[in-house]
Amino acid sequence: MRRIPTGSSGGATGWWRAAAIYQIYVRSFADADGDGTGDLAGVRERLPWLAALGIDAVWLTPFYDSPMADGGYDVADYRAVDPRFGTLADFDRMLATAHGLGLRVIVDIVPNHTSSEHRWFAEALEAGPGSAARKRYIFRDGRGPDGAEPPNDWPSIFGGRAWTRLRRPDGTPEEWYLHLFDPAQPDLNWDNPEVRAEFEDVLRFWLDRGVDGFRIDVAHGLVKPEGLPDMPKGYELSRPDNREMRRPYFDQDGVHEIYRQWRRILDSYPGERVAVAEAKAATPARAALYLRPDELHQAFNFDYLGAPWQAPVLRRIIDASLQANASVDAPTTWALSNHDVVRQVTRFGGGEPGLRRARAAALLTLALPGAVYLYQGEELGLPEVLDLPEEVLEDPAWERSGRTDRGRDGCRVPLPWEGPTAPFGFGPVGTKPWLPVPEGWRRLSREVQASTPGSTLELYTTALRLRRELPALGAGTGGIDWLSDPAADVLTFARSPGFACVVNFGAMPIRPPLAGEPLLSSAPVAAEDDGSIRVPPDTAVWLRAAAAA
Ligand code: GLC
Repeated sequence: MRRIPTGSSGGATGWWRAAAIYQIYVRSFADADGDGTGDLAGVRERLPWLAALGIDAVWLTPFYDSPMADGGYDVADYRAVDPRFGTLADFDRMLATAHGLGLRVIVDIVPNHTSSEHRWFAEALEAGPGSAARKRYIFRDGRGPDGAEPPNDWPSIFGGRAWTRLRRPDGTPEEWYLHLFDPAQPDLNWDNPEVRAEFEDVLRFWLDRGVDGFRIDVAHGLVKPEGLPDMPKGYELSRPDNREMRRPYFDQDGVHEIYRQWRRILDSYPGERVAVAEAKAATPARAALYLRPDELHQAFNFDYLGAPWQAPVLRRIIDASLQANASVDAPTTWALSNHDVVRQVTRFGGGEPGLRRARAAALLTLALPGAVYLYQGEELGLPEVLDLPEEVLEDPAWERSGRTDRGRDGCRVPLPWEGPTAPFGFGPVGTKPWLPVPEGWRRLSREVQASTPGSTLELYTTALRLRRELPALGAGTGGIDWLSDPAADVLTFARSPGFACVVNFGAMPIRPPLAGEPLLSSAPVAAEDDGSIRVPPDTAVWLRAAAAA
């Protein structure tokens, strides 16, 4: 059994450079106490399954004390476990079990904003304009007569505007405060040294407990531009994929100083503690700045995550990502989904075609050099749940958008584990989960898939095993060598020594441009009389390719 080295004996292995990291959305993973919400004891019980899947680490979404206005990304106390999720003792037990199984544990840190129920925000409201307590957040007077207009025109990411005006108990209006997300998530003022010191202390709190790293929420948002200027002209007219990055409050140069300081803290602990940034930047080159040697270890690759199922687009993104990251000697990360996006089975077309593409995409992703993030349930081929009843929707985007955007709950439906009826072992018998689990998910449950040859679970388990065993995979020693044409409907690349991956995006079967023994395929491949194979549409194949490199 692999064990995590603890204490000062942990040498520099660079474990994170090629790690397979599994995202646990704690609310929806496993519910040990049957209150309908997943919890840390549930995570602990199910960790052996993840070890068997063959991952290296887990990332846990927030389980801190929270009123749950945004699923826990609204933290009221950064050093406490919310009773829904358990206790600090449950956390310690979970961590010890994970380490005993050879799994590292990364936790989420949410530094851009607190919950409006955080002690600091209560103090700010109480203390009033001009007070030191208000300077921990971003309070401003409004514009126009009586300050009735917000200080600037920034939209909230969840819809509506990014400012809310306070009222005194007698109803008279006073200052506005900034919230890039929900009004229950006031933005912190990172120009204030007290805010910086507090988060450094929070990092140490969890590092002292033994966590292996952090996933930094909205890492690109902490520092706001001087003077809080309005949105750029023509912003609403820009293409949706560019629009996000034209927001003036993202990716300011000032964020890097914060992460350099955090890196010093991480490096002061033994055992290679790491940080991965949720950092959105306009170009791969800007994103790579977060990964300079004295900053963070990894950043999510949102270009890859958002890409359509099209070979030329994926190829362009893969090349640009590898190139940008090479410039700072950082591994690339690859992910097909997370708790904020529509699940890939549905994104790629839904139903059988969507599942077929998602399986092919998994083999493509797991064959690329660098680290990979898997979102819970993708190893089961779960689709997005598109028909959740309106009354169960909890994502703040639903109400903030005037009930036009159903939000992200459809990818957050609890996991089906085992048993004949919903919620399929998510909690003890009789558990009513916070989101209903479709009855049809029985055939997708871990139990059913574990005994079904060719299941998606089997595909992921085998792929993860080969990824560890084959010297060409994981970090590998080199990059990838393209064997297909950039404009073609196929991606074929070789990795040294002796490996090739072929993904057919076209409508017709193709013959791989090189000979090789198939190691694994996302759908059955046919062998011809001459021993060559045909790769059907929407299928990926891994080959042992003697002459590949
Ligand atoms: C990140 C999280 C998302 C959350 C937002 C605000 O994007 O992934 O779930 O709503 O930050 O904290």
